[in-house]
Amino acid sequence: MRRKGRKQKEVRTFPNVFHGNLETISESVQKYFNNNQPVVLELGCGNGEYTLELAQKYPDKNFIGVDVKGSRIWTGAKKALNLSIINAAFIITYIDRLFLVFKNPVVEEIWIPFPNPFPLRKSIKQRLVHKRFIDVYRKICLPKARIHLKTDDETLYNYALKVIEEENLKLIAATDDLYNSEFYKDELKIQTKYEIQHLHDGKKIKYICFSLT
Ligand SMILES: C[S@@+](CC[C@H](N)C(=O)[O-])C[C@H]1O[C@@H](n2cnc3c(N)ncnc32)[C@H](O)[C@@H]1O
Repeated sequence: MRRKGRKQKEVRTFPNVFHGNLETISESVQKYFNNNQPVVLELGCGNGEYTLELAQKYPDKNFIGVDVKGSRIWTGAKKALNLSIINAAFIITYIDRLFLVFKNPVVEEIWIPFPNPFPLRKSIKQRLVHKRFIDVYRKICLPKARIHLKTDDETLYNYALKVIEEENLKLIAATDDLYNSEFYKDELKIQTKYEIQHLHDGKKIKYICFSLT
C-alpha cells in the first residue's frame, strides 16, 4: 500500500482521532478528554501545528484539529501520542458538518491557519470564512468566541474583511503584514507547514481576528 493510503488507514486506529458517525463523535471525544475544559478548534488543521503547540501551552483547555484529510492529520495525531499530549485530539470530517458534532455552543476559540483560498468564483462557497461557514461557527461557538485567520492570500484577506462587515461581526484585529505588526507575538508566532512555505516564497502573512458578537 502506498504511504498516503497507509496513513489514511492507520490514522483511523489512533485513540486521539475521531471519524465516522458525527452524531456519536461528540460523546467519544468527551470520553477521551474526560473533563469539561474549554474547547479550541483548529480548522483545516493539516499537520495540526496549532493544536499541538497550543495544547502544550494551555493544559487547562482541550484542542481539536479538524481536517477532511486523514493522511495530514496522521502527522499531528502521531506526534500528540508520542509526546503524550492528552488535551489534543483530531476529527476527520468536513468543517461544514461540525454542527453535528457540537450540538451546543461550546467552542471558545477557532484558529484557521492558511485555509485554501479558493480563488475561482464558482468555489467561493468553499472559503472557510464564507457566510455558510460563519453560520456553522454561530451554531458551535460561545458568544464571545474569537476566530483567528492567517493567510498569505490578499483576495481571501479582503474577502474575510468584507464578510465581517456584511455579517455584522466584530473585527478585533487586522493586518496585511503580520510579521511587521504589533500582533506578531505569542501564538501568532506559531508557524504551520504552509506558513513556512509562503514565507520561503517571499509572501507577506496576513492576519484577522474577529468575534461573532
Ligand atoms: C492549505 S491547507 C493548510 C493546512 C495547515 N493549516 C497549514 O497551514 O499548514 C488547507 C487544509 O484545509 C483542509 N480543508 C479545506 N476545506 C476543508 C473543509 N471544508 N473541511 C475540512 N477540511 C478542509 C484541507 O484538507 C487542507 O488540509
